Amino acid sequence: MSRVSEAVVEADEVSRVFDGVRALDRVSLRVPRGRVLGLLGHNGAGKTTLVNVLSTVLPPTSGSARVAGFDVTANPAEVRARIGLTGQFAAVEDKLSGLDNLVLVARLLGARRDHARRRAVELLERFDLTAASSRQVRTYSGGMRRRLDLAVSLVGKPDVLFLDEPSTGLDPVSRLALWQVVADMVAEGTTVLLTTQYLEEADRLADSITVLAGGRVVASGSADELKAAVGKRSAHVTLTSRQDADRAAEGLRGRGLRVDADPARPVLSTPVEAANDLAAVVRYLDEARIEFSGLDLTEPTLDDVYMRLAADQAGVGRVR
Ligand SMILES: Nc1ncnc2c1ncn2[C@@H]1O[C@H](COP(=O)(O)OP(=O)(O)OP(=O)(O)O)[C@@H](O)[C@H]1O
Ligand SMILES: [Mg+2]
Repeated sequence: MSRVSEAVVEADEVSRVFDGVRALDRVSLRVPRGRVLGLLGHNGAGKTTLVNVLSTVLPPTSGSARVAGFDVTANPAEVRARIGLTGQFAAVEDKLSGLDNLVLVARLLGARRDHARRRAVELLERFDLTAASSRQVRTYSGGMRRRLDLAVSLVGKPDVLFLDEPSTGLDPVSRLALWQVVADMVAEGTTVLLTTQYLEEADRLADSITVLAGGRVVASGSADELKAAVGKRSAHVTLTSRQDADRAAEGLRGRGLRVDADPARPVLSTPVEAANDLAAVVRYLDEARIEFSGLDLTEPTLDDVYMRLAADQAGVGRVR
């Protein structure tokens, strides 16, 4: 069954079981047209399995999914015609050159020889592979293969792009270039689902984020919403010596504040729920005549969100 839907990628209660391992457990998500969903999760969370189900590589054990309005089980060919997929491990032909890999894929997708070549040259340029374009891929570095693999997934100008850990193994410059390419494609209307272990990447690229742990969705929302759910800005006070830091930690704890001490530097951190909390820190230090050289206020990061959710999930796992 296929139906047209607002969401270009839609999973409803998708489960996938491998020999008793429940890799996905009733996962539901929606990605509207032209948006980027970031799928975050630790090793084994189920990210690749979900990408495989959505890209018709694997059938779901139960539940259903639609991509570009087509059911992945009932109409896999229609789905495949509209997607680009970059897997976690590069899938390019070693014995061919970068140029020939791209031309081959373009020809397979039905492009005329001159169009295929033009598209290939354009993509090589975009991914900074022009100088290596006629070398066999087996001579490429890991990062170069990765970039070529991404270029291959873009040959057909797909409506929907699945990127499974696209920037793993890329150096910072290549990673920025990749982010730019993804942003350009999104600006042109492409819908993207990307998996990543880099919170910065999700924060930077994704409109919404779904966190998977143990095959389940444990949180979803915008980066800001997830951060707000973890809550709490933190104040970080830099003292001038370790002794002062120890003394201040004790004193602040005595006033009912939760204090984390940095093991490497004389820096104390405390959650700040109200403006009063910050005032209380400064008042205490002043009264106790403890000098401080810095005071910063930070918003929670996606790292905090991730750590918190992973910890909660570990807790759940232990209880069962
Ligand atoms: N073909 C398979 N046969 C058996 N178990 C599998 C298979 N594929 C995945 N699994 C299991 O399913 C779970 C989810 O794996 P998956 O590859 O989806 O995780 P992931 O989030 O992509 O992890 P990573 O960050 O390491 O890539 C793991 O427990 C994995 O061992
Ligand atoms: Mg994976």
